[in-house]
Amino acid sequence: MGARAPGGACTVVVGCQWGDEGKGKVVDVLAGDADVIARYQGGANAGHTVHVGDHHIVLHQVPSGVLHAGKRCLLGNGVVLDVDRFFAELDGLAERGVDPGGRVGVSNRAHVVFPYHKALDAAAEEAARRKIGTTGRGIGPAYESKTGRRGVRVADLLDRVRGVERVGRAIDWARARLRELGADPGLAGTVEDALALAHRLPTVATDVGDELARALAAGGRVLLEGAQGTALDVDHGTYPFVTSSNTTAGAAAVGVGIGPTAIDSVIGVVKAYTTRVGNGPLPTAFDPAMDERIRRLGAEFGATTGRPRRCGWFDAVLAAYSARVNGLTGIAVTKLDVLDTLPELKIATAYRIDGETRSLFPACVRELEQAEPVCETLPGWRTPTTGARSMNDLPANARAYLHRIEELVGTPIAMVSVGTRRSQVIRKW
Ligand code: IMP
Repeated sequence: MGARAPGGACTVVVGCQWGDEGKGKVVDVLAGDADVIARYQGGANAGHTVHVGDHHIVLHQVPSGVLHAGKRCLLGNGVVLDVDRFFAELDGLAERGVDPGGRVGVSNRAHVVFPYHKALDAAAEEAARRKIGTTGRGIGPAYESKTGRRGVRVADLLDRVRGVERVGRAIDWARARLRELGADPGLAGTVEDALALAHRLPTVATDVGDELARALAAGGRVLLEGAQGTALDVDHGTYPFVTSSNTTAGAAAVGVGIGPTAIDSVIGVVKAYTTRVGNGPLPTAFDPAMDERIRRLGAEFGATTGRPRRCGWFDAVLAAYSARVNGLTGIAVTKLDVLDTLPELKIATAYRIDGETRSLFPACVRELEQAEPVCETLPGWRTPTTGARSMNDLPANARAYLHRIEELVGTPIAMVSVGTRRSQVIRKW
């Protein structure tokens, strides 16, 4: 591939908390300037909610950029593809007047999630002493199949005979594992069920890395969309309460098949407060009344599972750690408007762990479970921010809050979101 033309730019959008930061909205806004949008990890565990006009659309696998007519949307090799749900999502978009036809492609190297992965996910959670609280979408077992070299890739399913043979062997393995976990081996399902919609894969299978390299070489703009968040990364998150992929920006290049030197910028998405769904520590958790209030104001229920999200104050220890791990060049702060009615706000600037004040996000989940946040308090603004379209439109206390986040995270703010609609955004970039 030749040298990149001037103007070609590749941006990664990555979650910097425990997922649900509002990446879908940020990608939807940035996709307006991009030619190609590609997901680099995760699967149907993700839920990106985008509001366009009167439509409220939840995307699980298709990149949020699909809502812009004419944009090419790709799922990279780092994604685990739930074939049935993927095609149901495409068909659902077509029914709602968003025609994805011919614009959506899937890496021929992506691994496929089958019904037996979901059965194994449920059985492993049932058998576990410490439950992770997974989304039940088979994500962990699918990545285990991949690293265990038992996986089935999109390319394998393009040939029916090879597909039947590989899936048959994988189902035999899954039955044995289900038995070990004390579950009914019949839950692994049949080869016919597993391959029901595989005949549609040739319409979408592609070499994603090659497509992206060509787009960049031709001066095109590429957006790489992450799922979940930094604190759910299998290496850098709150292990073992994490998802099973690398969610962080370093995984973007690997997950779509380009080199890291192709990436120009990394936008980290942080919610103006913190939420977490699933099990594991949340050091800045609100008291129950405040938790209830913010959950209601921010509609904090899982987009995939409907589970209530736990809510807490902005955690600058985590956000600064995320800035370092992801090499952020800018941050997008979302849902600022949810805080509009609060008389005062807190930001955690350190943790007290075992009598020690620490500013570095700990590696050990047991330490994080004991962490008491050290907070500073800032005055609220008690004014609606939903109509703001520039920083100058914001009340002074809201600007001060954002400025403090910027200082603590050590990264300039590129965007602020003040509502669910595409237009409710302040762009500095
Ligand atoms: P899994 O990804 O389904 O294996 O779930 C592992 C952990 O990641 C659980 O705590 C889930 O709640 C969490 N998780 C997975 N996907 C998302 C997401 O898109 N947003 C927020 N949390 C998620």
